[in-house]
Amino acid sequence: MHEWDASTELFAHSVIGYAIERLRLPKDPRWGAQPAGVLHEVFGRTIVPDGLGAHEAMRIVREVLIPSCRPMDDPMNLAYVPTAPTVAATMFDLVVSASSIFGGNWEAGAGAIAAENQVLRWLASLAGLPDAAGGVFVSGGSAANLSALVTARQRHVDRHGRRGRLAFAATTEVHASVRATARVMDVDVVSVRCDDHDRMTGGALAAALDAAARERPELDVFAVAASAGTTNAGAIDRLDEIAAVCRERDLWLHADGAYGLAALCSPDGRRRLAGIEQVDSFGVDPHKWLFAPYDCAALVYRDPAIAARTHSQHGDYLDAVDRSESNPSDYAYHLSRRARGLPLWFSLATYGTEAYEAAMDRTLQTARAFADAVDAHPAFDLLLEPELSIVLFRRRGWSVEEHHTWSRLRAKDGTALVVPTKFHGETVMRVCLVNPRTALDQLVPLLDDMATFSTATGFPLSP
Ligand SMILES: Cc1ncc(COP(=O)(O)O)c(C=O)c1O
Repeated sequence: MHEWDASTELFAHSVIGYAIERLRLPKDPRWGAQPAGVLHEVFGRTIVPDGLGAHEAMRIVREVLIPSCRPMDDPMNLAYVPTAPTVAATMFDLVVSASSIFGGNWEAGAGAIAAENQVLRWLASLAGLPDAAGGVFVSGGSAANLSALVTARQRHVDRHGRRGRLAFAATTEVHASVRATARVMDVDVVSVRCDDHDRMTGGALAAALDAAARERPELDVFAVAASAGTTNAGAIDRLDEIAAVCRERDLWLHADGAYGLAALCSPDGRRRLAGIEQVDSFGVDPHKWLFAPYDCAALVYRDPAIAARTHSQHGDYLDAVDRSESNPSDYAYHLSRRARGLPLWFSLATYGTEAYEAAMDRTLQTARAFADAVDAHPAFDLLLEPELSIVLFRRRGWSVEEHHTWSRLRAKDGTALVVPTKFHGETVMRVCLVNPRTALDQLVPLLDDMATFSTATGFPLSP
């Protein structure tokens, strides 16, 4: 398995060739989940004592494995938060694997860590954080939220000791992973009401904290988890107002920007994210809207030393590690680490930051133009002016079932993946754009299709 001969050479080239083909050729939007029984039947026959051989294993990959996974990078995948990695980022991901880099500490992965740190520096400077800011790439937004809030708790306990039942504040619209973080940490969440645009304001935060202090005096609040782009609506909490409340009350401010903070690379996005320069930590997932492959989340701290105090792991065999350098293992809940920031670094180094700005502007402009088209169409109501690249809209007169039927049919026939959501209790349509290749003239026909769609027939009412 570890020897290299002529057949290995052929096999290696065929795998790379397949990766290039997967990237270059149009995706089939109908690819997706198959019944578990069918897949278990196929894959149940793949792990055998004498191996299938590379040719047969690759046949299964081509014919079964890939076609039963949704192509998240298809430009007409507009559901949840899709992905749109660049060619450079994806190809370099293969190099990261091939190089067996240990990205946990400097002495093992110095070159990789130095490159990743430049990307973290770029993100920190776009956010307006000081030069000393830094952090680490983790697996996703959930891991970033957990590691940041554990760090926040540590600072609070260091400063004040434990004064009661620990809690952080967040809105009802905060991502599920933030609530999951509270469960993992066994802390409470002080719930803050959103305004009509699904945002946390400074006033609502102060009111919720005051109410909590009155009604649950045992609570000891240590942080605020704000959303820099909610997943459902793309709403940005009023970070500047929230930061003022946090300063006043000595609370850590973490911004979950897993989706939305990608917009920092556009001047328009930066304007919308005003206040981000005041946070203590933020997370952004390049695997969502910063054109990197899974799994990649940047976690940045204003003062990484607090994170290192919180997360660094010690043990007899670990004491040999050189602690005088910046060791990424110290900044989150992990030890071994893939240098998962490298595909983004390679892509940035290849194309330059201006290409990122242009790609980001393109998705923001397409989202605005699509929102205008929704607004102008007599069959639809635009529910929120998009702050980022998520558009929520109502198809007038549709039942809940009609939303889901249209969604399922159009996913099945490969037109587009658009999945309904709820906005203020009502079932509505949601489009999330992260792919600069998604064009307005592909989106507008979806509106015409929905406008004329009848669930009675399952077909458009008019041609
Ligand atoms: C705002 C926000 N935070 C956190 C997450 C969780 O990120 P991940 O799935 O990378 O763990 C998501 C995922 O969609 C998100 O949109």
